[in-house]
Amino acid sequence: MSNELQGKVALITGAARGQGRTHAVKLASMGADIVAYDIAGSAGEFLPYPAATTEDLAETRRLVEELDRRILTVQGDVRDKAALRAAADRAVAELGSIDVVVANAGICEPAKWQDITDESWQATIDINLTGVWNTITATAQHMIDAGNGGSVIVTSSYAGKKVQPMMIHYTSSKHALVGLTRGFAIELGLHGIRVNSVHPGGVATPMGGGGMLDAIAESTKENPKVNQMGQSFMEPGWLEPEKISDVVAFLASDASGGMTSEHLSVDLGTQYF
Ligand SMILES: NC(=O)c1ccc[n+]([C@@H]2O[C@H](COP(=O)([O-])OP(=O)(O)OC[C@H]3O[C@@H](n4cnc5c(N)ncnc54)[C@H](O)[C@@H]3O)[C@@H](O)[C@H]2O)c1
Repeated sequence: MSNELQGKVALITGAARGQGRTHAVKLASMGADIVAYDIAGSAGEFLPYPAATTEDLAETRRLVEELDRRILTVQGDVRDKAALRAAADRAVAELGSIDVVVANAGICEPAKWQDITDESWQATIDINLTGVWNTITATAQHMIDAGNGGSVIVTSSYAGKKVQPMMIHYTSSKHALVGLTRGFAIELGLHGIRVNSVHPGGVATPMGGGGMLDAIAESTKENPKVNQMGQSFMEPGWLEPEKISDVVAFLASDASGGMTSEHLSVDLGTQYF
């Protein structure tokens, strides 16, 4: 797949760190120029893990530039459609096109239903679901106007196929992305644009850091048997983010040209338990 994305531009949300960063590096290694969009700051005080920083976003820039690719870094919230539109317009003006969109930004809070506040419910839906809607609606017309087709990749989760215990808001948002993917695949398919989702299992990113493991333990302590859900077929049971990026690269490339409205699990079998 080397150089397969030469001359193409990929806009990636949540690209300051974690999977979004490895997606940026992988797609750049295949020749793509990158638009890295990230809040690079707190997405909610209720989250148990540290927020990404402007330094994280700058590190994504450094890694992409090291590959001799161009990159626009934009500090913005996926809840802010005007900012996403401005980033998309800038991408076309400065880099020439948008060919690949990776709607990856997301948040995750483990909590019993009684502990999910209206604020964290709304933020989870607004970022994980409406943020993907905003990302695609801010970019799709540019892809249609260019007439070159394209690939949209939505980051859902194993929680979008099964259930992540003690995360009703997260699981709801990630299930909804399956319907969103199918709906956009129908309408953008008319313009040769493919739309697929990826469903990672556990991934070693900063989302799992800070107090995340303690928060999971706290949320399941009255119902510990649910900890047996979400087991994988293979050890160690979680993946490095580069493994998700390999699948994103496949979906971005012509190798997956026959696929749209598909929902690919990258979870070492987790969805089957
Ligand atoms: N880590 C996992 O185990 C796992 C498993 C399945 C799915 N996912 C999903 O993968 C995606 C990437 O997560 P990650 O593991 O890289 O986590 P991460 O927390 O390391 O990275 C997420 C990035 O999204 C950004 N972001 C959050 N809210 C934003 C907003 N409102 N606007 C713009 N940017 C925002 C963050 O600043 C951060 O850089 C998420 O959608 C997540 O739900 C993660």
